[in-house]
Amino acid sequence: MSRLNKKISPSIMCGDWLNIEKMIYQLEAAKADWIHVDIMDGHYVPNITFGFDMVNQIRRIVDIPLDVHMMVYHPERFFNRFELDQRDIISVHYEAVEHMNQIIHMLKQKKVKIGIALNPGTDVSVLRTYVEDLYMVLLMMNQPGGYGKSMEAGMMDKIRETKTLINKSGKKVLIEVDGSVSYVLAGEMSRAGADIFVAGTSSIFNKTMDLRPSVQKLRRIVNHVEPNYYVHDLTSLKQSV
Ligand code: DX5
Ligand code: ZN
Repeated sequence: MSRLNKKISPSIMCGDWLNIEKMIYQLEAAKADWIHVDIMDGHYVPNITFGFDMVNQIRRIVDIPLDVHMMVYHPERFFNRFELDQRDIISVHYEAVEHMNQIIHMLKQKKVKIGIALNPGTDVSVLRTYVEDLYMVLLMMNQPGGYGKSMEAGMMDKIRETKTLINKSGKKVLIEVDGSVSYVLAGEMSRAGADIFVAGTSSIFNKTMDLRPSVQKLRRIVNHVEPNYYVHDLTSLKQSV
C-alpha cells in the first residue's frame, strides 16, 4: 500500500458516549477514513462497551466503513446480529476463537471484510495459515480492553515481522495498529509498515484539539509530511493549526 493511502480509524469508545451521533458526524466531517467500534464482552476483556444495535444504528447514519473490533469469546455466536456489508470489517481475536477456519467461512458468507486481531504476546506466525483469506491484521500495541495504556516492548518489530510475513504471502493484507497510537509513535509505526491507525485517547481524543485538526495532524504524521510531535507541543500548536 503506498504511504499516502494510510488510513485513520477513530475509536469511538474514546469519545463522548453521551453524544455519539454528533461525534460520528464530526469524525466524518474531519475526513476520518473508518470508524473503529470496540466490542467488549466483559469476559475476554475486563470491560463492556457497545452492542449490535449501536453498530447497526451507526451503520445507518454514515457511509464510511465500520471497523468492528470484537474483543469477544466465541464471536461467531453474534455475527448474524450485525447488519453490516462489504464496506465493513469485522476483526476477531485469534486468542478468543476455537475454529478460525469456521469463523473465516462465516464472515465470507456475510460478505464483510475479515480481520484477525493479535494481542501483544501472540506470535505473528499464527497468521500464516489464514493470511490468504484476510483483508487486515489488527495488531494490539498493548493489552486490549482499555485505553491510555503504553505501547508494550517489541511492538515496532512485530509490525515489521507482520509486514514481512504478508509480503512473503504475496497478498495485499493491511496492517492496523490499535492502542497507544500517539502523535509521537504513529510515524514510526507507519514506517514499520502499518497502514491503518486506530486513533484513541493517545491521539485525537486528547481534549486539547478539536477533532478535525487532530485527525489532520495524525494523517500528516503517518504520511510523513509532518514530524512526530510530543504531546506537550500540542497546546502551542493549537493556535497554529
Ligand atoms: C482498546 C481498544 C482501542 C483503544 C485505543 O482495547 O482496542 O481502540 O480505544 O485507545 P488508546 O489510543 O487510548 O490506546
Ligand atoms: Zn480496538
